[in-house]
Amino acid sequence: MTARQVKPGIFWAGALDWDRRLFDELIPLPDGTSYNSYLIKGSEKTALIDTVDPTKEHVLINNLQSLKIDKIDYIIANHAEQDHSGALPTILALYPDAKIVTNSKCASILKELLLLEDKQFIEVNDGESLSLGDKNLEFIFAPWVHWPETMFTYLIEDAILFSCDLFGAHLATSDLFVKDRMKTALSAKRYYAEIMMPFRKNIKKHLEKLGEFKLEIIAPSHGPLYNKPELIIDAYKEWVADEVQNEVVIFYVSMHGSTKRMVDFLTDVLIEKGISVKLFNLSRSDIGELAMALVDAATLVVAAPTVLAGPHPSAVYAAYLANALRPKLKYISIIGSYSWGGKTVETLTAMLSNLKAEIIDPVYIKGHPKSNDFESLRFLADEIHNKHNL
Ligand code: FEO
Repeated sequence: MTARQVKPGIFWAGALDWDRRLFDELIPLPDGTSYNSYLIKGSEKTALIDTVDPTKEHVLINNLQSLKIDKIDYIIANHAEQDHSGALPTILALYPDAKIVTNSKCASILKELLLLEDKQFIEVNDGESLSLGDKNLEFIFAPWVHWPETMFTYLIEDAILFSCDLFGAHLATSDLFVKDRMKTALSAKRYYAEIMMPFRKNIKKHLEKLGEFKLEIIAPSHGPLYNKPELIIDAYKEWVADEVQNEVVIFYVSMHGSTKRMVDFLTDVLIEKGISVKLFNLSRSDIGELAMALVDAATLVVAAPTVLAGPHPSAVYAAYLANALRPKLKYISIIGSYSWGGKTVETLTAMLSNLKAEIIDPVYIKGHPKSNDFESLRFLADEIHNKHNL
């Protein structure tokens, strides 16, 4: 891979990672990812915006060599996480005159993570600009996308927003700009769900602020660039909005079939009522799919049997995840079956407390479901239907 021109004097110099299948030892990457680094050659100064994951630093170095870059004046750090900062020490060793330009919070994190020194940094404030000669960069602080130090860099003359992780997609593609809109939209939604969703309220404010800027290109830190920025801006506006869809997500695990029988019955009744259902078997599902389903849904039902007096561990994992991701769910319920006792409902309810969602009365039964249990599930479906139609 060699560097590619975004516009005259502006280059993508990052790395595609086609083979990576897991991020943070947690997030599945079915389509790999990219670490986007950008080089801007002004008439007087040269700036590199972010670096790459340390496993791909040789690719960044090759790209800089292919562009015949013998001097970098500034390395802009929009975000301290290592998939963008990890190659900084190597790049600084190759370009010793370069200064890292970032906000004070990011500088302080970078010093801790990469053992860098004060003298290597130039700290900037929100709204401050930096001249490269005929090109000028403006720094826009955007905390919590998805760390506290994150910021955007805006190239004023070309109306390009280097948006850090925001608007990113874990997608390795040879397309510099979005070409396959459907694929990119799905990857971007998955990325939003896994990484950005807990910060929905902050993102709403950032979107409002970005409304003040002319945007011709959005250049995120992962995935292809947007030369039609409204594609991703409009999608984000929908994802962060408070409105939910008439949709129930069911996370389930079943050991001997009782909980599964309840899930199947509830699913059928919900579908009869015209409610969309997304069903996930927790023993087999990719957690990115679970997260994505939570972006728009009104209701989550966790269906789990009791194991050793508490919820099945797969349900504990999924509940922990849902609670951490803070989707805009309005309602939650729990269903399942036990054999002799336990505190499954109490434990799962307590685990979902971040969500501020209304708990609809659980249906938690002893043994295999009987006719009165099916009636209770029908009542639960009625409740969900009524609440969705409020
Ligand atoms: Fe792509 Fe938060 O790093």
